[in-house]
Amino acid sequence: MHKPILETESLTFAYHDGKPVLDSVTLSILHGDSVGIIGPNGAGKSTLLMHYNGILRGEGVVRVDGTEVSKATLKEIRRKVGWVAQDSNDQLFMPTLFDDVAFGPLNMGLGEEEVRARVREALELVGMTEFAGRPPHHLSGGEKKSAAIATVLSMRPEVILMDEPTNDLDHASRRRLIEFLKGLDVTKVIASHDLEMIADLCRRVVLLDKGRVVADGAAMEILSDEGLLSAHRLEAPLSVVLGRLRRESPDESGQVTVEQ
Ligand SMILES: Nc1ncnc2c1ncn2[C@@H]1O[C@H](COP(=O)(O)OP(=O)(O)OP(=O)(O)O)[C@@H](O)[C@H]1O
Ligand SMILES: [Mg+2]
Repeated sequence: MHKPILETESLTFAYHDGKPVLDSVTLSILHGDSVGIIGPNGAGKSTLLMHYNGILRGEGVVRVDGTEVSKATLKEIRRKVGWVAQDSNDQLFMPTLFDDVAFGPLNMGLGEEEVRARVREALELVGMTEFAGRPPHHLSGGEKKSAAIATVLSMRPEVILMDEPTNDLDHASRRRLIEFLKGLDVTKVIASHDLEMIADLCRRVVLLDKGRVVADGAAMEILSDEGLLSAHRLEAPLSVVLGRLRRESPDESGQVTVEQ
């Protein structure tokens, strides 16, 4: 895990209105790592993710596995980097879910049998097998999210960028996704307000605010820094706070003692 797979150097970006959204972001993400991108609404998290597979292009350099993202390398980049959009409607556009999940593998030039096998596998992994024939726009919000994840898994990317993957998921689907991601041996970059999920899944956390990296380090360190989090409109996840309390003040039975 020592080689970078995703890199940005002085990445600066503004949408058409010219307001800066990413301000000289320099980040290096290592092969096999799991990185949470956190920050308040409008911090630039989704915008940053969209640069890693070339959906957006700003000033500065973005590299994937040493290759600079450009028009010429886009196809190669998208094979390696799968992106789960914050809004699943941005990702589902075919007449049936089967077609949507098959779209990526077909584009990669895989044979029919292989495509079918990949679709089956991806739908099974997200528990959506029975929905294969349904039009995606007739799915519920949570079903759409699972469907969008399947469209990325079927391509077996080396890096998965996920934008709010647990949004709209019920408790059981969320847990299933977290456990599945834990076992998935790829580089994961997850932008989310679900800091419990980030605490559970990520080794490293990057805190963005107003398009700048304001903190970057071990997940547990950043997620337990209540002052830092509240200065950026966030709150420490309960599991992290409880873990710290337990370490700081265990009584003889190992129970947490909280002073009133
Ligand atoms: N298509 C767009 N055109 C103009 N401005 C945009 C566009 N998309 C996003 N923005 C602006 O860019 C900034 C960053 O948006 P972005 O979606 O990257 O934030 P975010 O950190 O993902 O927020 P959230 O937590 O709400 O998902 C915001 O101020 C937003 O209003
Ligand atoms: Mg976002």
